[in-house]
Amino acid sequence: MSAGSEAPTPQPLRGRRVALGVTGSISAYKSVEAARRLEDAGAVVDVALTPSAARFVPPLTFRSLVKGEVATDLWDPAAPAEQHVAMGRRADAMLVAPASATTLAKLAHGIGDNPVTLTALATSAPLVVAPAMDSIMYGQPSVQANLELLKARGVFIAGPAIGRLASGGRGLGRLIEPIELAAAVRSAIGRTVGDLRGRHIIVTAGGTREPIDPVRFVGNHSSGKMGVAVAEAARDQGAAVTLITTQAPPEGRYGIVVRSVNTAIEMQTEIWNAARGANALVMAAAVADYRPAEAAESKLKKQDAEEEGMTLELVENPDVIASIDAPHLLKVGFAAETDDLIENAKAKIKRKGLAFIAANDVTQSDAGFQVDTNRVVLLDATGEPERLPLLHKYDVGVAILERLKSHPDWPVRAD
Ligand code: PMT
Repeated sequence: MSAGSEAPTPQPLRGRRVALGVTGSISAYKSVEAARRLEDAGAVVDVALTPSAARFVPPLTFRSLVKGEVATDLWDPAAPAEQHVAMGRRADAMLVAPASATTLAKLAHGIGDNPVTLTALATSAPLVVAPAMDSIMYGQPSVQANLELLKARGVFIAGPAIGRLASGGRGLGRLIEPIELAAAVRSAIGRTVGDLRGRHIIVTAGGTREPIDPVRFVGNHSSGKMGVAVAEAARDQGAAVTLITTQAPPEGRYGIVVRSVNTAIEMQTEIWNAARGANALVMAAAVADYRPAEAAESKLKKQDAEEEGMTLELVENPDVIASIDAPHLLKVGFAAETDDLIENAKAKIKRKGLAFIAANDVTQSDAGFQVDTNRVVLLDATGEPERLPLLHKYDVGVAILERLKSHPDWPVRAD
């Protein structure tokens, strides 16, 4: 259970085994946090360290943390025989983080001379490498050529990021954050075995912001959490995901294309831009039905004392989801209701041309806006409503995707 809630903690990696290869870099401390995040997501993590990685992070740290095995020395008589082969074989994914320039070269050229490179050679699971090094090292043609080789063979490259480097100054070469490393593993597994491989899902999130003047807007309480959770669940099952959001790009967005918007009209345009070839649109965003007729160019000043109050003229926004009509695009709406949940939601299905709708009562303190959990009823035009219990928003996303996959118009997998 997540703290303070009745809803189970989501386990997107339940039943998965991840091999984590750690190589010599000051950023190896982040791989400790990545291991924890992978296990929190339900995976069992085996760890392989190069001799130089073991100088940066004592193997005992990993031994105390992970449920899997920790391999540090090929010649350790106490270690299981052929430990790297077993680790490689049972892995559903391997993450090498941080990946030094030397390790990238070894991975690109099939050299196995330490627990990390040997485990990578022994696995047929998807491989994610997260480079970390000084920016001049990273820019070397040799390093870039090795990365290109790995990419061409289907290896997932995660980062690096721009930021402060151990070698001094700022530059490109910083290991991406643990939350992104864990996201890259989830994405790689999805892209390899997920049910939504080859599908494209557009998700909207957050409340639209309709400008009144340069500093004020008409908005609502949507945090974007519901939409982000649907996007993550779709990414984890291998879909190409476009997230159109009014909020800051979410952390852990590896594998998700993020488009930032403010207004309903901008959201509509971005959906159209992404819609060609997309299979579904899940509209979790809270779209303003009305916007100020005109956005003032400079900040509106307080009225003179004699003039009481202020009138803001509003005009109707397009109904975004109703306006999108693309071949093969299944549309899923959300209904945010404060009363007559089912009746009001049902009316929106037909009016907006939806495959189905997720109705949520936004008056509940543990559901709807801003919280991590939601309690939704899924309903279509004809069937019985499906009442889901209180769930983490990620698991609401999973339930929505399950319903999409069993929809009669959902394209059946060829393989
Ligand atoms: O973002 P969170 O803090 O996690 O909160 C989640 C949520 C409460 C915002 C989410 O669960 C939710 O209910 N989203 C839909 C909010 C909403 O606008 O509901 P509605 O009943 O007014 O609209 C019905 C559907 O039409 C929605 O899918 C909406 O995106 C869409 N719509 C509405 C108006 C409009 N002009 N264009 C639209 O496309």
